[in-house]
Parts: sequence; C-alpha cells; structure tokens
Amino acid sequence: MTDKPFSQACENNKRPILDVLEHAFATRKHVLEIGSGTGQHAVFMSANLPHLIWQTSDQTEYHGGIQAWLDDENVLNCKSPMTLKIGEQALPDNLFDGIYTANTAHIMQREEVELMMQQVSDVLPPCGVFCQYGPFTEDGEFSSQSNAEFHASLLERGCGGYRDISELTKWAPKLTLQNVYRMPANNLMLVWTK
Ligand SMILES: C[S@@+](CC[C@H](N)C(=O)[O-])C[C@H]1O[C@@H](n2cnc3c(N)ncnc32)[C@H](O)[C@@H]1O
Repeated sequence: MTDKPFSQACENNKRPILDVLEHAFATRKHVLEIGSGTGQHAVFMSANLPHLIWQTSDQTEYHGGIQAWLDDENVLNCKSPMTLKIGEQALPDNLFDGIYTANTAHIMQREEVELMMQQVSDVLPPCGVFCQYGPFTEDGEFSSQSNAEFHASLLERGCGGYRDISELTKWAPKLTLQNVYRMPANNLMLVWTK
C-alpha cells in the first residue's frame, strides 16, 4: 500500500456521483477526467464502469498521487494521468466521447473555465456527454449560506470562485444542458450533451 493523497469529500460523494454517471455514460466508451486531483474518483468510477476506458489528467504535480491510487487499485481500464492544465494544454480533439470533471470550475480562474467550456464544446463528437460536478450558482443565487461563505473564501485565496450556470451555458454554445441533478452537500451535477 503506497502513501496516497486522500480526500474525505471524494469518499462521501463518489457513490451519488456514480449513480448519475451510470446513466449518463452508459453508452460512452472513452472518458477523459479533467482535474483528477487525488485520483480517488478515477479508480472508483472506472472500477464500477468497466465498459469505459477512463483517462485521468491533471497538472503534473498531481500525477504521483493519482498514479499511487492506480497502482494500489490496479483497475485495468483506468489510465495513467496525462498532463492537462486548461489554458496551457488544449483538450485532445475527438479522442473522447465523454468528459468528466468534479470540483474544478470554482478553483480555476474565470478565463480558464470559459476556455474549458469552449474546448469541451468543440472537441466532443456528436452525442458526446460532459458531466460536470461541483458547486455553482443559479441565476446568481447561492444554494446555501455555507456556499456563499465558501465562494468568498475562494476569492480571498485567489481562486476564481463559483460560476453561474448561465455563464457556463453561454461559453458552451454547442452543448445542451440536459439535466441538473441536485447532489448531497448542496452540489450539482450538470449533464451536458452535444
Ligand atoms: C478541488 S480539486 C478537485 C479534485 C477532484 N476532481 C475532486 O473532486 O476531488 C481541483 C482540481 O482542479 C485542478 N485544476 C485547477 N486548475 C486547473 C486547470 N487550469 N486545468 C486543469 N485542472 C485544473 C487542480 O489541479 C485540482 O486537481
């Protein structure tokens, strides 16, 4: 057993996220995860969605931790991380028919989120699916006081903070927001299709 990075939030939200992905990615084959973080979602989702090839990615400083999870869990359909920082590397064109990201849009700068939405909208093939999990505002409203406070703390730390669903929609002109799932802890899962 390697010493691995660990997120309690990932342990808490992985099952409800899987419940959505089971349907949303039912007919997908190759899924790219943007911002795999610790790697916990990657090993759990890929083990439970064996029809998928799951490609992890993140900034290089996260790769050791992701690889440690991959090595320990040895999930054959989960691939070693590729270097992907939105704004520095472009999303690969037409390689993936599904894209997943969790808890990235409020960490990224506004310009990076805009770029991510544009690029996802461009590189997914027709019928491609983008599952985007995290906290967002709707019509400028926070879903809870704790979300408003977290957003303020993110701005203080230099992160971009919460994005509104209307902004994301505007930045992804080729995508349709198919479903908005209300998830535990006041998070949302946005399921976009091309
Ligand atoms: C809060 S962590 C979430 C990690 C994991 N997805 C989860 O749900 O626990 C934010 C992740 O976004 C990634 N990230 C931040 N800016 C990024 C960018 N410009 N492009 C790609 N990933 C980025 C970070 O490296 C980090 O892995």
